[in-house]
Amino acid sequence: MGNFADFHARSIHDRDAFWAEQAKWVDWKVQPQQICDYSHPPFAKWFVGGETNLCHNAVDRHLAERADQPALIFVSTETNQEKTYTYRDLHAEVQRMAAVLQDMGVVKGDRVLIYMPMIAEAAFAMLACVRLGAIHSVVFGGFASHSLASRIEDASPKVIVSADAGSRGGKVVPYKPLLDEAIKLSAHKPGKVIMVDRHLAAFTPVAERDVDYASERAKHMDAVVPCEWVESTHPSYTLYTSGTTGKPKGVQRDTGGYTVALAASMPHVFEGKPGGTFFCTSDIGWVVGHSYIIYGPLIGGMATILYEGLPIRPDGGIWWSLVEKYKVNVMFSAPTAIRVLKKQDPALLSKYDLSSLQALFLAGEPLDEPTAKWISEGLNGKAIIDNYWQTETGWPILSICNGVEKAPSKFGSPGKAIYGYNVKLVDDQTGEELTGANQKGVLTIEGPLPPGNLQTIWGDDARFVKTYWQTVPNKLVYSTFDWAVRDEDGYYFILGRTDDVINVAGHRLGTREIEESISSHPNIAEVAVVGVADQLKGQVAMAFAIAKDTSGLTDLAGRIKLEGEVMKVVDNQLGAVARPSRVFFVSALPKTRSGKLLRRAIQAVAEGRDPGDLTTMDDPAALQQIVELVKA
Ligand code: PRX
Repeated sequence: MGNFADFHARSIHDRDAFWAEQAKWVDWKVQPQQICDYSHPPFAKWFVGGETNLCHNAVDRHLAERADQPALIFVSTETNQEKTYTYRDLHAEVQRMAAVLQDMGVVKGDRVLIYMPMIAEAAFAMLACVRLGAIHSVVFGGFASHSLASRIEDASPKVIVSADAGSRGGKVVPYKPLLDEAIKLSAHKPGKVIMVDRHLAAFTPVAERDVDYASERAKHMDAVVPCEWVESTHPSYTLYTSGTTGKPKGVQRDTGGYTVALAASMPHVFEGKPGGTFFCTSDIGWVVGHSYIIYGPLIGGMATILYEGLPIRPDGGIWWSLVEKYKVNVMFSAPTAIRVLKKQDPALLSKYDLSSLQALFLAGEPLDEPTAKWISEGLNGKAIIDNYWQTETGWPILSICNGVEKAPSKFGSPGKAIYGYNVKLVDDQTGEELTGANQKGVLTIEGPLPPGNLQTIWGDDARFVKTYWQTVPNKLVYSTFDWAVRDEDGYYFILGRTDDVINVAGHRLGTREIEESISSHPNIAEVAVVGVADQLKGQVAMAFAIAKDTSGLTDLAGRIKLEGEVMKVVDNQLGAVARPSRVFFVSALPKTRSGKLLRRAIQAVAEGRDPGDLTTMDDPAALQQIVELVKA
């Protein structure tokens, strides 16, 4: 045990020595020559000259000591499957997948898009890509054809790996038709599509393009595909995320920095030990799934649970039963999931032996106090650790680091700045640093961003600089786009986004994307989408739209009909995750005299709050309409 303040200070003030030490958690083929090259800010290069491989560190390096230990535990309460892959099994499966990818011509630097449900083959595909030095881009299975198409177009994959279907709450969710439609929409066409056929939904393969994974795999049962050693700065993957503009950003991650960051986070943040079990309930389509279903636990030599299903099926005790059965030590989930469980019979929590569990980590959205208290009591005072981060950072920015020094949590706070992060709160107007306690500012990070954080936006360095580094006046700092305060003990409290990003059940969505989708309905002239506070999901999207032809909207039935049509458009284009909870029809939207949409004011009244200063508003009646609609 050390002293966290010293540990953090050293990571900033003696940066290279600190990270040189952390680099020892990783197996290198060639040792790094330089720890951090920050000669071209804000672009940081970590462990320059070093050569390594992410798959080697996650799989192969463990074979000597733990070949027969569980590595991947696949559990589906949708298809009633349960299968444990040891490190030896995982090694074999990853090589089979890698051999199939090689047959399709995939080599180092090629992109492979993965659009899959939560099945073991998704993990094999990710690991097989990085094994070959190919760059994977996993697209969340809940996204529909339009979202998928824009990602296919931007990533331009040589190959796509997909499946016939997912399943949710016992209902089959076909993936193939959405994929076919997305490929049709995209200007870029993949050479091959590898289909994992779960026999859940029948489909017709596209001749010359679609290949059946089972048949291809059968040709490579004894595959030996060595890891391709890549430069530390070689991209390992891209992962698309939402921002202010409609076009999603491909967050690009390196190899060496990411491997070091995750490897170091296992002991320092999560106290995960080799041979233990990690259960992260996220989805591989999100950053939490990348880092803490797949890479982090495996790099740390742990077993990881990949779970397909709902938290309440067959009943609300399913996750706890898995904790008991697999002796889970570290669990990672999202506040929304805990709020869902909170509605279930509390006896389900005491039904299972949870003695193996050390801590429950929660991230992705604000953790409200009642939920934190409920789960803390339910787990008999075990540590509940709120941690704050972003797709861009790849691993937590704020947390308690019990592996460095035990520290108490404060309800409502994700803790302090983690080692490596030089966090500053700044005034959004002047860029001035706010050093006092309890001052509200934008949470920023001074460069270089620590290892594991995004290198750039895929194919768009200028957008990387402009988006993240040029929003705070007079300062080159990375903006998280989150408001925060810090108390006298250095604990941060997150107060919400500064931009148009909303957070629905821990899923990050851009309101502009949803607006663009709604606007594609032929009868929609204009629309504003805002995030509105919701008891269960944290936030939900709510839309206020102006119809071109209002003749059908004179009665409730007409309004319901158009609302349903609009929701269907969003479902089909973006996916049900982005579907607004309500679509209200108005005759005007509140704007400033210069024509800027007053989103904050709309959001405030939609939440029943005072909209604040409205002196610049052009037409007060427009806002009044919204007040009345929401009240009704
Ligand atoms: O607004 C913050 C919120 O989620 C955003 C990042 O979302 P995403 O890119 O999907 O990455 C999630 C990785 C955990 C942040 O900008 N957020 C994330 N964690 C927290 C949070 N808000 C409050 N408390 C948190 N612990």
